Parts: sequence; structure tokens; C-alpha cells
Amino acid sequence: MTRKIIIDTDPGQDDAVAIFLALASSELDVQAIIAVAGNVPRSHTVENARRVLELAGRADIPLYAGAERPLQKTQTTAEHVHGPTGLDGIDMSWSPSMPVQEQSGVEYLIQSVRAAEPQDITLVMLGPLTDLAIALTLAPDIASRLREVVLMGGAWSELGNITPAAEFNIYADPQAADIVFNAGIPLVVLPLDVTHKCLGLPERLKALRDNGNRCSVAAADMLSYSERFDLDKYGWKGAPLHDPCTIAWLLQPEIFSGRSVHVGIETAGVLSTGMTVVDWWSVTGRAPNALFLTDADSDAFYTLLTTRLATLP
Ligand code: BDR
Ligand code: CA
Repeated sequence: MTRKIIIDTDPGQDDAVAIFLALASSELDVQAIIAVAGNVPRSHTVENARRVLELAGRADIPLYAGAERPLQKTQTTAEHVHGPTGLDGIDMSWSPSMPVQEQSGVEYLIQSVRAAEPQDITLVMLGPLTDLAIALTLAPDIASRLREVVLMGGAWSELGNITPAAEFNIYADPQAADIVFNAGIPLVVLPLDVTHKCLGLPERLKALRDNGNRCSVAAADMLSYSERFDLDKYGWKGAPLHDPCTIAWLLQPEIFSGRSVHVGIETAGVLSTGMTVVDWWSVTGRAPNALFLTDADSDAFYTLLTTRLATLP
């Protein structure tokens, strides 16, 4: 039985690889993509999502535009990591032609979750959580209708990547994250603790490139671009690969391990806005609201990624 997913994303090279992995996996039925502002402004994330879908030969998948800005916070983007377009590293000289749906991503989200059978739709969130937070505010009934939300964001022992205390996706819209983490939806969180263990070592990127098909080569080209910032920053032999961990968890959850814990979102910190406050040792007595993963078998993850992407155009 395939699992129906909607991917909300801010591509972003690692978002693009996550979308490729989902499209390459027959266990998943990608209902739609929603492109939200995040790594780069929404005008770019929408264009990038079109490119990714066209590269994968899947212009048939409906694409919606999500929110243009965070709920309250001043917008933060990450061109210093992802380049001016957000998808630097591949040939960007061609113009995508697939349509963008007229309906807003938030309206689509509400309508499609209401129209589906309860527990039928899984949401995969790869960027700031703005769209889901708006949808939950306008239509609180969708919370109990979602099967699960699988998201990349936050950190426990790895703390932050955009500030010393906060991971980018949560920091970019902490008020939205606060709404999502308090909505009572089953949450699966792939934080920096996991993604910092899934390093794109040179031999792993080479294996991807050696697949030789268009999407694998594009994935290798994109990651070879976006890694430069992280290699310099961390001094590691490979850059973390973030967003594809969500899809890998849906496909092979045994690759990952973690705990059910309570995660609070710091919305009003002086130095710690956007921090995920993880009650790892159960000191607060608050009921767990998330399965928070902290470890991964990175070889198994890259084997999955490489073999699946080989099946794309
Ligand atoms: C997250 O932020 C973005 O830069 C990546 O696409 C990923 O979703 C990592 O902190
Ligand atoms: Ca992302």
C-alpha cells in the first residue's frame, strides 16, 4: 500500500534531492508540492520546484505556491549556503514551463486534507513551517485528520546552524513551529543531530554521479555546490545532507533511532529564538509531542539514496 504524501519545501539543493528520492520511490504517492519561502524568497523556491519536477519528468505533479513570508519574524534566507537562486550547481539557463496552480498552497492543504479519508495524508515539511501553521490556524480540524507530519528541523546536541542555538527551518519561523509542535499531530523530527551524521563524503557523491542518469548527476552537482559552505564551516570531509532524511525515514525507518520526547519552541529568546528545547531526560513531566531522531546508519541512508535515484530519468 502506497503512502500519500504532500511535500512542503523551500528548494534548496537538499530539498531537491529529497523530492527526487520521493519521486523515485513507489512506496510513496506524491500528491502535490508546495513551495514556501525559506532558503531563498518564494519567487525562487517556486521556480526551483518547477525545475526539480521537470528534471524528474514529473510535470504532472501539481505545484502550489506557499507563504511568502514568516508569520511574525523578519524574513531570514540562506543564499550564503544555497547560492543566489537557491539551486546553484546545475545548469540554470533553461526556463521551466510546467504550471503553478492558481489556488494557494495553504488553501490546497486544507482542502485536500479535509477531502481525504482521516489519517490518509502524511505531510513532509522541508522548510519553515509557515504553511502548516496558517492552515492549522484557519482549519484546526485538519490536525486530527493528518496521519503524521515528518519534518526536517531543530536540533538537540548539535544546537544551531543559523544561530548558535537554532536550526534554520525553525529559526526562520519560530511562531509557526510553535503552532505545529503544539497541534497534537503525530510528529517525526529529523534534526541536525541526524543530518550531521549523514555526511556527503566524496565517495558517496561520486557513487551518485556514477549512476550517470540526469537526476543523479544533477543531485551530485547541486550537493557539490552547497557543500562548500559547510565543509569550510565544520571542517568535515562531507557536508550534512538534511532534507532527504525525512523521505528515507518514511521508506526505511529502521535506518534511524531516537526517542519520543517533548519539544518546546523558543519564540521569545534573547539569544535563543528558534531553539528546539528537547526534554530528552523527561525533566518537565510534559507529555511527548514528537518522535525526535538522533542517530542514523549513514551507509544505509546513502545506499538507499543512490539506488533509488538511479531509477529516475
Ligand atoms: C535546513 O535548512 C535549509 O538550509 C535546508 O534546506 C534544510 O531544510 C537545514 O537546517
Ligand atoms: Ca529545506
